[in-house]
Amino acid sequence: MADTPQRRRRVLRQHVLTDALLGVWAVPQGDASPSVTPPSLPADESLPPAAAAAPVALDSLDAPAAPAAAIVAPAKVAVLSLEEKIKELDAIDRNQVRSCALCELCRSRTQTVFGEGDPDAAIMFIGEGPGLNEDQQGRPFVGRAGELLDKMILAMKLSRSQVYIANVVKCRPPENRTPTPQEAAACWPYLRRQIQIIQPRAIVTLGGPATKLLLNTTTGITALRGSWHQVQGLGPNGAAIPVMPTFHPAFVLRQYTPETRGKVWSDLQKVLELLAPTPAPGSASAPGIAPTPGSQ
Ligand code: URA
Ligand code: SF4
Repeated sequence: MADTPQRRRRVLRQHVLTDALLGVWAVPQGDASPSVTPPSLPADESLPPAAAAAPVALDSLDAPAAPAAAIVAPAKVAVLSLEEKIKELDAIDRNQVRSCALCELCRSRTQTVFGEGDPDAAIMFIGEGPGLNEDQQGRPFVGRAGELLDKMILAMKLSRSQVYIANVVKCRPPENRTPTPQEAAACWPYLRRQIQIIQPRAIVTLGGPATKLLLNTTTGITALRGSWHQVQGLGPNGAAIPVMPTFHPAFVLRQYTPETRGKVWSDLQKVLELLAPTPAPGSASAPGIAPTPGSQ
């Protein structure tokens, strides 16, 4: 895209507006952000209200040409140590994803983009697929959409290194087109295993393709965002993991209205509420999520 003065002005304006809305006044540089404290997480496994919305049959999404059994996880998933998580994620990336040719997208990639972040992260963000910058650098969300995602994460008082970021497909679709359902299904076992290893307390799906894949639905993002759903079977001992769909940062950049940005921020706040410490039994109103009827 040509770097014209008009474009530069638009980008600058978007930065200022995002900062104003999200209360973000600095973008994290690189991965280090030692001054940011992650939210402390409750020890229990309570699920959000209304989480039962979508019964999911994820096995139906397995690609017919599903890759080797090595990445198909057992039904009951062990909780791994950080070292085990790092080792297993690295092995899947090196031994399987980098040489993967399970779908057409292997032909157009420069390199695969596995995902990155804290293998013990409480929050996992799932995007659509690598774009030009990601394909060149081998890292997810490093272009303009990534800058906005960084700001969203920073507004949650977290840094990139404290969350985990992955995509539906690990190879760049030509012309940045949306991955086909077949490509998403072919790549799903990798993402599923990433989720099972990391076992985040909440997943944020960014945009339609990630939301459709995880919730096994054809319903559009506009109808699904802002309320809790769940992906079955990938949490500790096969538990469900709460899923909050929100708009993709690239869509937000195209529809740069206060409404769109406000909706995304409201979705992220729901995630923070879910992860906030719950009041100790018997204590008066402590900060965190108010217990919701039926959520026990
Ligand atoms: N958009 C995505 O969905 N993923 C990336 O990694 C970059 C842009
Ligand atoms: Fe393999 Fe996924 Fe790349 Fe397709 S997109 S070739 S399934 S790694």
